[in-house]
Amino acid sequence: MMKSKIEGAFNEQFNAEFFSSYLYLSMAAYFESQNLKGMAQWMRMQVQEENLHAMKFFDFINERGGKVTLTRIEAPKTEWSSPLQVFEETCAHESKVTGLINDLVDLAISERDHAANAFLQWFVTEQVEEEASVQEITEKLRMVGDRGGMMFMLDRELSQRTPPPTPAV
Ligand SMILES: [Fe+2]
Ligand SMILES: [Fe+2]
Repeated sequence: MMKSKIEGAFNEQFNAEFFSSYLYLSMAAYFESQNLKGMAQWMRMQVQEENLHAMKFFDFINERGGKVTLTRIEAPKTEWSSPLQVFEETCAHESKVTGLINDLVDLAISERDHAANAFLQWFVTEQVEEEASVQEITEKLRMVGDRGGMMFMLDRELSQRTPPPTPAV
């Protein structure tokens, strides 16, 4: 069984994953409004990933006999000044999420919940990948600067991102 302290913290992370999803959907809307369809597509795939993350928490809480409680999702920001600013904020957001996951691991260890700790290790690895990929795009955007042709090429490159694999049921 899941201790109520863990249940509360996992429900908070469940909400945080949906906030990430909502934030990236807002960024997708911004890119659509800028006619950067490839970056919009990249963000849409990011939305799908965050929804999968949320559902992993949903399933785990239930499996462990806890209760999932849905709460209000904070409204994300809706305007940015440039694609670079969007990705810089994505980097900052992902490193904040890494901090949240690390705090959950600390809690699982201090509460001696080994199952929760094992479950969270997937997220620890996932965050390494997420931070690296957004960092890479941010670096590319810095190189692009205000060169329209290069922005066009990067947008096309980012349009290639495919949906995350659907987990086996
Ligand atoms: Fe996530
Ligand atoms: Fe993420």
